[in-house]
Amino acid sequence: MNLKGRHFITTQDFTAPELEFLLARAREFKHTKPSHKPLEGKAVALAFLNPSMRTRLSMELAVQRLGGTPMTLNVGGDSWSLEHRDGVEMNENRTEHVKDAVRVLGRYVSAIGVRAFARMENPEEDLADAVIMSFKKHSPVPVVNLESAMHHPCQSLADVMTLVEKRGGVRGLKVTITWAPHPKQLPTAVTNSFLLAATQFGCDVTLVHPEQFPLPGRALEAAGRNAAASGGHIRVMHSQPEAFLGAQVVYAKSWGSLAFYGEWEKEKEIRRNYTNWIVDERKMRDTNDALFMHCLPVRRNVEVADNVLDGRRNLAYDQAENRLWVQMAILEALIK
Ligand code: CP
Repeated sequence: MNLKGRHFITTQDFTAPELEFLLARAREFKHTKPSHKPLEGKAVALAFLNPSMRTRLSMELAVQRLGGTPMTLNVGGDSWSLEHRDGVEMNENRTEHVKDAVRVLGRYVSAIGVRAFARMENPEEDLADAVIMSFKKHSPVPVVNLESAMHHPCQSLADVMTLVEKRGGVRGLKVTITWAPHPKQLPTAVTNSFLLAATQFGCDVTLVHPEQFPLPGRALEAAGRNAAASGGHIRVMHSQPEAFLGAQVVYAKSWGSLAFYGEWEKEKEIRRNYTNWIVDERKMRDTNDALFMHCLPVRRNVEVADNVLDGRRNLAYDQAENRLWVQMAILEALIK
């Protein structure tokens, strides 16, 4: 299957057979550890506009294991801050335009990984995924999304790989995605992406959150289309106890309210009503012996209790490991 030269911004840009191909290759990397070096003599830039542990290390390792050289940029730290808006007068505090940066990077590297979180200031800009789309628009080499405002596709592909490993397959699997408490207003990218990937692969998904915390409409609409095409299901609920009944998988994630975008003080007041949405062992007992998932980092005893994170059903470390294998598969597939 030829995916050379493609960008990896969201799993929605790829067909089910293409995603199956990447997962099969990721499993080969994990279990056979092939010695061939498809990135020999090549470099990959990893541009981080935000902090990371797992993504940065697993990407650097993925490039190295494929024989290439990873080059990590701390954008706005020890590398120039970047302007993504086209046509603006750059007399504010961003030093270089994405257009110029990627044209230069294209002379050095064979792909560019980008982490650019939602800024939680301008909903239109975040919903349009404006920063990563600027990289995509201007880059002469493939762009790999390492978490943007709206998507975290490497995470969701690793999540699906983990579920296939543990359950033998995911079609029809009863997966509950639950909002969780958190002391910060986080973006929706991880939830959007897992919702999209799970429905692309035919899972029976229940999304549960307090009414004030809906996901972006376009993610829900796309998930609905995915489910119709894959034979999966998607339902949205606001009662966490009901949503846990019969679940085979519980995926916990916090995200900020679109109703209070960038208005943390207002949202903080609302959140006081939902500290009891923490996932703990008592709630997990109401499930169908569900596996537990989280992308990490996790706020222990705020989002999820110790007794779940330290328990036998926690897959979070498998999810983190599988980032390495899926990213090797993605880089090998995309880079010419
Ligand atoms: N899950 C994830 O992307 O982790 P980091 O933020 O540490 O990269």
